[in-house]
Amino acid sequence: MTTAQTVPAPRDSDETAGQHTPVLEITAMERHFAASGGGAVRAVDGVSITIGRGEVVGLVGESGSGKSTVGRCAVRLDEPTGGTVRINGTDVTHLSRRALRPLRKDFHLVFQDPSSSLDPRMTIGQIIAEPIKLHRQARGEAVRARVEQLLGQVGLRPEHADRHPHELSGGQRQRISIARALSCDPDLVVADEPTSALDVSVQASVLNLLADLQRDRGFGCLFITHDLAAVEFLADRIAVMYLGQIVEQAPTAELFASPKHPYTQALLSAAPVPDPVEQRSRERIVLHGDLPSPLDPPAGCRFHTRCPLATDRCRTEVPVLRELPGGRQVSCHLVAADGTAPDAAS
Ligand SMILES: Nc1ncnc2c1ncn2[C@@H]1O[C@H](COP(=O)(O)OP(=O)(O)OP(=O)(O)O)[C@@H](O)[C@H]1O
Ligand code: SF4
Ligand SMILES: [Mg+2]
Repeated sequence: MTTAQTVPAPRDSDETAGQHTPVLEITAMERHFAASGGGAVRAVDGVSITIGRGEVVGLVGESGSGKSTVGRCAVRLDEPTGGTVRINGTDVTHLSRRALRPLRKDFHLVFQDPSSSLDPRMTIGQIIAEPIKLHRQARGEAVRARVEQLLGQVGLRPEHADRHPHELSGGQRQRISIARALSCDPDLVVADEPTSALDVSVQASVLNLLADLQRDRGFGCLFITHDLAAVEFLADRIAVMYLGQIVEQAPTAELFASPKHPYTQALLSAAPVPDPVEQRSRERIVLHGDLPSPLDPPAGCRFHTRCPLATDRCRTEVPVLRELPGGRQVSCHLVAADGTAPDAAS
């Protein structure tokens, strides 16, 4: 096989064009897992998400909706069974490990649980230095200097380089994962519930750190979370997932001000708001039943089994994800082309 076949050429050779190339472009992604009893678990079933340079896109939805699977496929820790993933314009969907290796410096995943992603036998210095050496970002003495600089950027001291992960707190370990993820100055960071395994008391400081670094370094970020306050704080845009699909996508302020999809309305109605008067006056939309199985998703609108507004049409006809004014997208039969939507609470 020639080099040309194994090493993909970037789509943009021109640097100016590169500025406008999304850091992540997921198109019609599918990830179906073979089920033990036959059939397929349709964990991700036609998801498209684009993240521009320096943009933060939040991915929310209840447990089992497919968020982590999207994140893992986006950074090619898993391989999609359909659709495409482009990073900086390069199609990485089915690249081999070998062909991916030189590109890996450009994108990183920060996991939920830092304990499982940091090798306990290595020192913190070795953990952070590993990608720096692998991608030849620095050599010799300069590696240690770079490690200490990164430790400083995540609020730790140079001495931490000689410790082992078990000697640090959960919050400090997550700071190490962030330092490691940023060690090669990536264009894209996928953060999958980066604070949910931490003590509530340190969640805010780790989230603030991520927000500050994102602003300073300008990497694009797919921020996966259950925490609606966190996503409102960090994300420019939010995609809402339900049973393997995106049901609504909108700029953060617009989504919180006027959620259009009945599922988004239910999700946001459960979020606490700082104003106690508003909290009391707000109607909580309670969804009945569990998330249906992705092995056999409901026909028509996948949300119809739990939607307070479902009609006969919803049980048979699949709603498409349509563009609305203001850069929004929603998939619900009841949302009009001008964005007028019924309120699931009334
Ligand atoms: N390797 C796998 N084999 C079979 N099914 C899987 C596999 N990985 C995930 N799934 C299934 O895919 C669906 C989506 O899982 P995923 O972990 O992506 O959801 P999630 O939105 O991240 O949930 P959570 O919020 O709990 O982290 C679930 O039904 C899950 O059981
Ligand atoms: S299409 Fe029907 S079931 Fe689906 S969200 Fe809209 S109203 Fe509810
Ligand atoms: Mg998950």
